[in-house]
Amino acid sequence: MSVEKRPTVLSGIQPSGRLTIGNYLGALKHWLGLHDQFDCYYMLVDLHAITVRQDPALLRERCHEFLALYIACGLDPRHNVLFVQSHVPQHAELAWVLNTFTQMGELNRMTQFKDKSAKHADNINAGLFGYPVLMAADILLYQAERVPVGDDQKQHLELTRDIALRFNNVHGPVFTVPEPMIPPVGARIMGLQTPTAKMSKSGDAETDAIYLLDEPAVITRKIKRAVTDTENAIRFDVANKPGVSNLLSMLAALSDETMPALEARFDGKGYGHLKGEVAERVVALLEPIQARYHEVRAAPDYLQQVLRDGAARATKKAAITLGRVHDALGFIPR
Ligand code: TRP
Repeated sequence: MSVEKRPTVLSGIQPSGRLTIGNYLGALKHWLGLHDQFDCYYMLVDLHAITVRQDPALLRERCHEFLALYIACGLDPRHNVLFVQSHVPQHAELAWVLNTFTQMGELNRMTQFKDKSAKHADNINAGLFGYPVLMAADILLYQAERVPVGDDQKQHLELTRDIALRFNNVHGPVFTVPEPMIPPVGARIMGLQTPTAKMSKSGDAETDAIYLLDEPAVITRKIKRAVTDTENAIRFDVANKPGVSNLLSMLAALSDETMPALEARFDGKGYGHLKGEVAERVVALLEPIQARYHEVRAAPDYLQQVLRDGAARATKKAAITLGRVHDALGFIPR
């Protein structure tokens, strides 16, 4: 065995809303093969989720649901550390330390904080303000080199890098400074009804998203009703034809065909034809995933074991980093 350590990849998703085809094509699908090259940690960030009010029973259900879906999509717990953030107490502990290396002004500039405080004006809590610091702790605890995130998380990752560098400048090289891993172009799936906005897992409009657990008939109906335009020409042109371009992006991601090849193949054909093929592909992709999901959900002992195992493996690494941090700060060892 090589003595060289493999670099670490870490990412997280909030266990709220419902996972969509956008989460699969934009994120999960790209995570599947990474364990060949990296030590991979994927977590459900329940501590982050409670920065907006959650129903406790629903939160617990979503954690189980998302974990089972991760596994059903092909994330094998034998090759990836799958865990729940709250099971590893070091996240909250490191976040406290990192708070003292983060400026109020920096957090005030975070666009997600501004968006979320506008949306939840009746509950602008300190946890929402400190959300990016907890995210920095998530990443730095595992000394992650690469962090797969969507475009909307780039600012948080930039802050994480700044916090890591600031700590290292004062206390020596304790933290690895992480880099984002942005998904390939075309991997960003937009809403079916509002193709100018990202498909959301917690949006209000049921027909805007395809959820991974939607029935085939529902999927087909949603795609048939997706917003297009009146030109009736199939070409990839995000500015002028966002709806059609989104359907083409989905098909490209689902079929691994290039955009020019798809445009050539659909030349002269109607939107109904394109929608029919997208629907067929999505249904074919999701059928085995749903079957596997129901199998996994029917095995609560197995899921429990995966969580226990993931928490143990994550804690092992997290405890080493937190120990080094406490030591660097001058805390008396226990
Ligand atoms: N903030 C991220 C999001 O909303 C989720 C997240 C929390 C995360 N901690 C993380 C992503 C660590 C990557 C790494 O999408």
